[in-house]
Order: sequence, then structure tokens, then C-alpha cells
Amino acid sequence: LRTVFSGIQPTGIPHLGNYLGALKPWVQLQNESNPRDRLLFSIVDLHAITVKQDPLLLRQWRREMFATFLAIGLDPNRSILFAQSEVPQHAEMMWLLSCFASMGYLSRMTQWKSKMSLPDNASPFDLSPESSKKKDTPALKLGLFSYPVLQAADILLYRTTHVPVGEDQAQHLEFTRELAQVFNSAYKTTIMQTPQTMLSPAKRIMSLTDPRKKMSKSDSKPQSRIMITDTKEEIQTKISKAVTDSIPGVSYDPQLRPGVSNLIEILYHLSPGNCPSPDQMANELLGTDTSPKELKGLVADAIDKELAPVRERMNEVMSKSEADIGKLLVPGIDKARGIAMPHIMKMKQEMGLWW
Ligand code: TYM
Repeated sequence: LRTVFSGIQPTGIPHLGNYLGALKPWVQLQNESNPRDRLLFSIVDLHAITVKQDPLLLRQWRREMFATFLAIGLDPNRSILFAQSEVPQHAEMMWLLSCFASMGYLSRMTQWKSKMSLPDNASPFDLSPESSKKKDTPALKLGLFSYPVLQAADILLYRTTHVPVGEDQAQHLEFTRELAQVFNSAYKTTIMQTPQTMLSPAKRIMSLTDPRKKMSKSDSKPQSRIMITDTKEEIQTKISKAVTDSIPGVSYDPQLRPGVSNLIEILYHLSPGNCPSPDQMANELLGTDTSPKELKGLVADAIDKELAPVRERMNEVMSKSEADIGKLLVPGIDKARGIAMPHIMKMKQEMGLWW
């Protein structure tokens, strides 16, 4: 039997990359899995505060993310849905794991560097305000640096076997497996379950304005991404302005034609069963007779068709009172704590942290 865990940061309305790379596969897993499989999906708000957040906005985003979970079809009676900060064992687990996490490994990871716009070879030790050569370099915070340890804690806390994510999370999952093994060998135990990465088929949806970069919530250009709540008109406008190229016809070649290929990919992931691959979709369904403009029309229609019901359900959920939404959240918190607590107890026993 499987235990599936995945998380998403409440840092704004999810975009099409989050939807195709994570949210939609989660719902599919939920609907297709063995009823005895355990499924946990978390709003990882403790991760969100590793960069500066406005408290009012964060509160709103947490609510919107929970509404999103319900709108896309995650079912609180089937899946365990909760916010990370409501299960204190995540933070406790993080401390226990921190004592095994290598600073060297963490220094080589890329996320803290990209969040701080630093080059890949940056070292955390150059960044304290005292030693910083550049006066305007902000200090690296411990929470941002140890972000992957908290992520490993999320996963290992539930003895997770499968983690469905997009490609950008692969490095964090590698680190999680390493940490599980380090713990197991330190205590000659098998208490830590080594989790598998389940890469979603749509593992990397690209930006509409710069198709060599991934679609991202933190991109300063709103035109670079489709939000799952965008109206039909917004979808049409953003897709019609998506960067493509001047080569006639459409063909799938991510290296040479990243913009066109990204659009073909989006269409492919929204047209289940039509074609075995984006490449074949380009050759067989579209071909050289289709212009990039026609392709854009097909893509915008497919996105709108997919998101229209999500949009509608999202409005319904958001119109519920806080108390009603709160009621839906309680069972997930209780169930998550109920799994986490005994596991932490067992770990503490292994470690000598008991009377
Ligand atoms: P986050 O919030 O950045 O993204 C949530 C999920 O969306 C996927 N994703 C994409 N997939 C395809 N194309 C894209 N352009 C794209 N952008 C984002 C991400 O891969 C992810 O699956 N650190 C994680 C959250 C996290 C987590 C966890 C995930 C915390 N603890 C434990 C799994 C297990 C993050 O920041 O995801």
C-alpha cells in the first residue's frame, strides 16, 4: 500500500504549471488509487515564510489554496488535506532531521541561490552582513537555507512512499532520500521510508513570455502565466501574446522552437488519449498546415474548457463563510497529527529521547 504526500506553497493563485504538474495529477491519483492507499496534500505555509510575506495576504492565499483544493476535486473525505503549520510535528521533525543534514549538501542546492538571485557557485558563508563584500546583499536566513530539511520532514513524517511533483522538486527529493538513509544508518534502523519521486507527465510547463524559463508564480510579468482563475478572455489574450518564432507551420522541437513546443505540450496534456506524444500530436494532428496563430486558438480553447469548471467551483467555495470552510479543514488536521505523532515517538525512542 502506498502513502502519497505532496505540498504546494500558498503564495498566490496556482498557475497552469502548478495545475498540470501537480494539482491535476493529485486528483487523478486520488480518484484512481486503491482505497486503502493513504493520500496527504498539504498547503505548505511554513515554507512560504522562508521569504518575506505580508500576513494579511498570506492568510488570504491559504484560504484560496484550500478553496483550490476543493475546486479541483480533492475530497476531504478521501484525501487528508491540511495546512502544514497546523500540524506542529512538521517543525519538530525538521529539528530532529536538522541534526543529520549536511551543510555542504545544502550549500550546493540551488533554490536559496535562485530566491536570492545569486550565481550557482555562491557560498552561504559569504552572505552574513558582516562578511558580505557587497553592502546591499541581504543576509541569507537560516529558514531559507534549510528549506529542503523542512521539505524532507514533510515527506518522512508520514513514511511516504510516493511524492508526485514537477521536475523543479527533483533535487529536494534526492536530498530527502539521502537524509532518510543517513538517519537509518546512524541508528541502524529502517524507521525512515525512502520515498520515490513521481514526476508528472507535464513536468515542466514553460513561461509564455520567455519559454526557456519555467512558468513561475514569482515571475514579475503576469502575462508569463495562466492563473487557474483567469477568465476566457484573459486566457485568450495571454495565449495570443505568447512568444513563439517566425518559422512557418508548427513542429515539436523544444530546443529550436521552445515557445511553439510549450504550446503543443500544453495542448497535449489537455487532450488525453488523442496522441501518444507531443511530437506525434504536432505531426499528425497539427502538421505544417497549422499556423502558430491557429495553434494558439486551439490551446486557448483547451485551457478554457479545462479551467471553466474549476473557476466556477472556486467561486462557490470562496463564497462560503469562514466557519464553514474551517469545518472542512478540521478532519485533515486531526488525521495528519494522528499519523505523525506515533512516528515521531518511534524516532525519539531510536534516538534516546525518552524516559
Ligand atoms: P511549489 O509551491 O513551487 O509548486 C507546487 C507544485 O507545482 C509544480 N510546478 C510545476 N510543474 C510543472 N511546470 C511548472 N512550471 C511548475 N511550477 C511548479 C512543482 O514541481 C510542485 O510539485 N517545495 C515545494 C513544496 C513542498 C513539497 C513538500 C512538495 C513542500 N514540501 C513535500 C512535495 C513534497 C514547492 O515549493 O512547490
